[in-house]
Amino acid sequence: MRVCVIGGGVIGLVTAWRAAQRGVRVRVVDPEPGRGAARVAAGMLAAVTELHYGEETLLSLNLESARRYPAFAAELAEASGREADPTVIGYRACGTLAVALDADDRAHLRELHALQHRCGLDSQWLTGRECRRLEPMLAPGVRGGLRVDGDHQVDPRLLVDALLRAAERAGVEFVRVRAERLRTGGGRATGVVLADRRELAADQVVLAGGSESGRLAGLPPEVVPSVRPVKGQVLRLRMPSGAAYGRFLSRTVRAVVRGGALYLVPRESGELVVGATSEELGWDTTVTAGGVYELLRDAHELVPGITELPLVETCAGLRPCSPDNAPMLGATALPGLLLATGHHRNGVLLAPVTGDALAAALVDGELPPVAAPFTPLRFAGGDRAGAVGFGAVSREEETV
Ligand code: GLY
Repeated sequence: MRVCVIGGGVIGLVTAWRAAQRGVRVRVVDPEPGRGAARVAAGMLAAVTELHYGEETLLSLNLESARRYPAFAAELAEASGREADPTVIGYRACGTLAVALDADDRAHLRELHALQHRCGLDSQWLTGRECRRLEPMLAPGVRGGLRVDGDHQVDPRLLVDALLRAAERAGVEFVRVRAERLRTGGGRATGVVLADRRELAADQVVLAGGSESGRLAGLPPEVVPSVRPVKGQVLRLRMPSGAAYGRFLSRTVRAVVRGGALYLVPRESGELVVGATSEELGWDTTVTAGGVYELLRDAHELVPGITELPLVETCAGLRPCSPDNAPMLGATALPGLLLATGHHRNGVLLAPVTGDALAAALVDGELPPVAAPFTPLRFAGGDRAGAVGFGAVSREEETV
């Protein structure tokens, strides 16, 4: 079987690698594979702390992917030519602390805690003093927080680099040209037409173009995925190295500040990722003074010592957001065309389960049960017709 995967971001790469492992001849079509939103992402594996009202169905997929991460990361590290050790791709079982800076944030966090409890999740309420005992760099005004020991992190750049190498070693061919249009014939997808006019024939095509997925020409209207870009600006700082590093931050620290989610993700390497804005501005990826200012202002309120750290990078990426915030996985109404897109805030977290689900859809012809609710066919008859969860939210202010 020949498969074309359109898009060489984290989702396209994991799909290609897993499919190739199952004997499929895979080509990934992307002018710059490995350059997608994951390069910007902080890499939180935050199934519990990023829980939102109305996304209970998505929660089960997120939890399943988080559960698979250590074995996935070890297997990927080995497949990329390194030792079978999850830390090779920056997997770190560090846990997360979500804190409140004022009474409103505290009420939000209390609601999140209650929701987590109703969903059977593990999280522990801490006083402000207990939060500061865990993370002494937190601002003295912290009013309380939630300790979530099961939400970890991975380094998305190491993850993507390892996926590129593993896919290549598994025989995946990279076609470094833009996909111009879907090739169709006889009522099915038959491959891809490239920007240089070449045509690649394929038995099945996986559209994994992130927030660009709906822009591919040649898609019949009923299968155009409803994916919109949600911009996130992110900063990278450098923490003091050596013994001092342990004294800066030891785990991911999050907060909702003025209605926006803020997080600080400390890596073993000394990198500290601060994110993220959430902006609906089309495909614009400009880093703005306002975005950087707001992130630094809010991060400084949370951890005043960050102003001492070198600021080494600013960047922006586009989250691919579906109408119900959940991914679209597997077959579409057009035979031979599958989707792997719409992962919104969870692309890095969902990489393991997406790769397995798409490989199963390609080779076995059906999604595994955990992924079945995420069929793109749920939107047949209107964007929200079969949306997973109930009353899903998409605006940052509505999150808890
Ligand atoms: N999952 C983090 C974000 O989307 O900003």
